[in-house]
Amino acid sequence: MADRELGFRRNAQGLLTLSGTPLGALVTPLFEASRSGTPAYVYDLDGLDAGARALETSFGSAPHVTAYAVKANSAGTIVRTFARAGTGADVVSGAELEVALGAGIEPRKIVMSGVAKTDAELDLAIARDILAVQVESIEEIGRLAARARAAGKRARLGVRVKPGVSIDSHAHIATGHDAAKFGVAKTDLGAAWEYVDRHPELSAVGVSSHVGSMLREVDPYLATARVVCEVVKARLAGGHALEYADFGGGYGIDYGGGAAPAPSAFVGAALELLRSEGLSALKLVIEPGRSLVGPFGVLVARIVQTKESAERRWLMIDAGMNDLIRPALYGAKHRVELLDAAPADPEWRVVGPVCESSDDFGAHPLGRAPSGLVVLRDAGAYGFVLASEYNGRPLPAEVFVKDGRVVHVSASPGRESWVARRLQA
Ligand code: LLP
Repeated sequence: MADRELGFRRNAQGLLTLSGTPLGALVTPLFEASRSGTPAYVYDLDGLDAGARALETSFGSAPHVTAYAVKANSAGTIVRTFARAGTGADVVSGAELEVALGAGIEPRKIVMSGVAKTDAELDLAIARDILAVQVESIEEIGRLAARARAAGKRARLGVRVKPGVSIDSHAHIATGHDAAKFGVAKTDLGAAWEYVDRHPELSAVGVSSHVGSMLREVDPYLATARVVCEVVKARLAGGHALEYADFGGGYGIDYGGGAAPAPSAFVGAALELLRSEGLSALKLVIEPGRSLVGPFGVLVARIVQTKESAERRWLMIDAGMNDLIRPALYGAKHRVELLDAAPADPEWRVVGPVCESSDDFGAHPLGRAPSGLVVLRDAGAYGFVLASEYNGRPLPAEVFVKDGRVVHVSASPGRESWVARRLQA
């Protein structure tokens, strides 16, 4: 494995390869044997594993938890891969918590975020004694105390602070500005701590923040981290103990338009900040999602037909916005390439079958007579997890590749299942 190049890459002939094996050779037999149809997500388990391990190593001997944001991709095969690499998890629902635990992540490496956790979700977090429930409001602290009392247990909590930092990202994925629904405002922190300290069934163990997603620079992350450090230092100065500081996730990736800093660059800057603030004894928690999975997944789709009219050229494929919603929801652009040929002019507007004009993956150079399979790249994060069955389109399949072989296929529930469930509804 060591000398084999990892990841999805173009070889000298211009073919897309996965760890050196042409991707077409890996997946085409699968589709022909109809173990799986298109559209299908294909994941590179070696790349996922190597990325997670490199990030773990970048902490050196510093106490830490890499709380993988399960929302980015909750496939058991992937979460188990991360668990073996030593990561923890950031979960936002009881169901995600169960996946993280079921995949083998230790409870004390799991944090739970979310602005509207239900009583049942709080109960599960308390029962499993996770690292912390990260509360996002004073009202939630009250609810957590009530659930802890009902269970006759102590609840471990972190306070998620709203840092008041704006980032240069799509409005839908910026979470740290003052108008965001997330986190406890700095002006409410005094009351929050007071509430915690009046309730012996609560144990405050950390402070967290998450400024948003798709950061292309380390600076806004550090600005947020400084706010967390200020809050931590004030708490410690009041004679209280804390176990961790959590600076959140949000590390950007290269969707083809230019590189973002590596996750280890964010970690390096975060460790340096903790050192300069005299807080190195605390555990550093981070919550990366996209950066751990995004580059290691593609969506493979079949070309259904072309459509040419006047000067316009469309390429219709069998994946739509229901399978990969990022372009429709955030104006994101994923590179679309032919599976078996290098990019070449002319450009085609690649669209799906869904009856919405937003079902459009943008213009891509796909050559004179595109045919066969196409690949939508960098779709490992927020791809399958955001898929829906809109327009009577069953969820896509998922295919997992390791050591140049398909090791697992999670089939689509299929058309008949969709029809049966809708008829029963
Ligand atoms: N921690 C919290 C509390 C979060 O809300 C998120 C993401 C993360 C960590 C992980 O952020 P990441 O490292 O993945 O950027 N669907 C959107 C992204 C939504 C992000 C939601 N929260 C997209 O496809 O761009």
